Amino acid sequence: MKPQTPPKTYRVKSFGCQMNVYDGERMAELLGEKGLHSAPEGEEADLVVLNTCHIREKAAEKVYSDIGRLVKAGEEAGKAPMIAVAGCVAQAEGEEIMARAPAVSMVVGPQAYHRLPEMLDKAVQGERASDTDMPAIAKFDSLPQRTRRSPTAFLTVQEGCDKFCTYCVVPYTRGAEISRPFGDLIAEARRLIEAGAREITLLGQNVNAWAGEDDKGHDVGLGGLIHALARLDGLERIRYTTSHPNDMDDALIAAHGEVDKLMPYLHLPVQSGNDRVLKAMNRAHTAESYMRLLERFRAVRPDIALSGDFIVGFPGETEAEFEDTLRIVDEVRYAQAFSFKYSPRPGTPAATMVGQIAREVMDDRLQRLQARLNRDQLAFNEASVGKTCSVLIERKGKHPGQWLGKSPWLQSVWFEGEAAIGDLVEVELLEAGPNSVMGRPLATVSA
Ligand code: SAH
Ligand code: SF4
Ligand code: F3S
Repeated sequence: MKPQTPPKTYRVKSFGCQMNVYDGERMAELLGEKGLHSAPEGEEADLVVLNTCHIREKAAEKVYSDIGRLVKAGEEAGKAPMIAVAGCVAQAEGEEIMARAPAVSMVVGPQAYHRLPEMLDKAVQGERASDTDMPAIAKFDSLPQRTRRSPTAFLTVQEGCDKFCTYCVVPYTRGAEISRPFGDLIAEARRLIEAGAREITLLGQNVNAWAGEDDKGHDVGLGGLIHALARLDGLERIRYTTSHPNDMDDALIAAHGEVDKLMPYLHLPVQSGNDRVLKAMNRAHTAESYMRLLERFRAVRPDIALSGDFIVGFPGETEAEFEDTLRIVDEVRYAQAFSFKYSPRPGTPAATMVGQIAREVMDDRLQRLQARLNRDQLAFNEASVGKTCSVLIERKGKHPGQWLGKSPWLQSVWFEGEAAIGDLVEVELLEAGPNSVMGRPLATVSA
């Protein structure tokens, strides 16, 4: 590779989960510290970071076609951008990317992106660089201070996964479970609040596996961390995602009844409602134990909004087994949910299991499942009509005077009136749609 002009502007494109978005923000902060500026909307950037996701379908092909598009646009403009591939595809297929895509200057895995600035120096000198090491906590220690300004912020507290569900790539792309230290998290939360965050969402691949020692030297879990964060002035709302049923403990459940700032929302994936399928997935919980857990949350927080993830068409799933998933949906009545067709991921045990399900069968099952999930989401929104709740304003609507934000139950709420981004407004909910609720502002609780 020839030496390249040092890039002045960058763009980070994140394609994955919320943690991937968080990583994208941290990479942007690193590049900012290095003196680069975010490319203005609509302008080509000198450096493009493709922050990829490997969870489902054709992730790698999408990366190659994105690279192809960037190269072509660069040729037409007479100036090719420098390209970095980051995220979970970089981790899983780093070597192939280096071999197959000569236009890529840097490949950097999710546990190594703190080294992006050094890699950039090398790339400028014409030396391609790849780093997919997993040095665990070192990354967070060498990242710059948070600079992102927004009323809502993500904070990664836990990373990695030791669960090895048989369909999933995450344990391979993100590595073993680690918890960031309590003190570091309180410090990062403080800086996010100083920069304007009023709501913080704690992130982890298994966020409720977080464990640490608090400032008094006591061993605490996520419930203890949430109690400590709730004491920070200026922080109004706390959320967390994604939890695993097997990592739930009493303190976290109790926190939902004790901490006002902890929002009444729980995302707890079940994947399937059938115990044979759950076992083949290596989920280590049953449909029944999952239901009992949800009851405990509802006992301390009756209005809690529940959300889940589902996979249809796992290898060997019969029609009757799929119907158990429909049954669990009918029992729980989710406020929101994410449902996916099973996607065989290279290197995972399920990819080579017998009984791979035909695409048409998966399509049909997904459609039937989603019809029920949509029904329940609308019903949840309709049941909230007439309630008054706080809405944290995140952005302006399409029309002048229109504002959009989130209810405590993570519904999108919009209204017309006087407000500003970051305000907490008391809103009466008036009219429900499938994806949002319209309301009327009563008062600004805090600006
Ligand atoms: N750690 C979290 C989320 C992991 S990925 C958890 O265990 O809940 C987010 C969701 O993607 C999963 O919950 C699952 O529903 C889905 N998913 C993961 N691998 C998949 C695959 N191979 N095919 C289809 N969906 C998948
Ligand atoms: Fe993947 Fe299972 Fe780990 Fe979630 S718990 S990240 S689905 S292996
Ligand atoms: Fe995707 Fe990696 Fe997140 S595979 S879902 S970006 S952990």
